[in-house]
Amino acid sequence: MPADGLTLLISQGELRSAVSELARQIDRDYASTGLVLVCVLKGATIFTSDLLRELQASVHRLEFLRASSYGSGTESSGSVRVESSVAEGAIAGRHVLIVDDIADTGHTFVAVTKFLGAMGPASLRYCTLLDKPDRREVDVQYDYVGFTIPNHFVVGYGMDMDERYRGLPAVYYFPNP
Ligand code: IMP
Ligand code: MG
Repeated sequence: MPADGLTLLISQGELRSAVSELARQIDRDYASTGLVLVCVLKGATIFTSDLLRELQASVHRLEFLRASSYGSGTESSGSVRVESSVAEGAIAGRHVLIVDDIADTGHTFVAVTKFLGAMGPASLRYCTLLDKPDRREVDVQYDYVGFTIPNHFVVGYGMDMDERYRGLPAVYYFPNP
């Protein structure tokens, strides 16, 4: 039981089932083409590694990029910086699936999609483990969603608050005081 008043939101078992359900959907859609996975650092690393191991479709490459919209604390700044060493040749002509931890304001979606879209992928879709639709500031459509959750700040399963709690095996939230 983690300290600091953290409350369980999504258990390890629920995470496992959602990841295999997502993998089945993705497998169906990419069965004939295969795909390139692009993991959005750092929060999506654990989700991506679990998803990768569930996928039956052919994964041609695994790439990473960093999108930072949060300084410290829990408020989005609205401007997203993308840092990446992904080579254009890794994306051009490929079917690319972005894998992220949380859909929040949607600014990361816009920035990452624009960044990879400029590299000429055959197709570009967005997968997010969690979705907080109440927080959306831009009108964007995520293609694969694990869980729709209320407007809580969550940690665990790769997700952090000021770099802490990423190692928790389930997803927790801070109840409002
Ligand atoms: P947005 O959709 O551009 O606002 O940003 C989504 C990103 O903000 C996610 O990929 C996370 O890195 C971070 N984020 C948003 N909500 C949370 C949260 O509740 N816990 C941890 N990180 C979050
Ligand atoms: Mg993120």
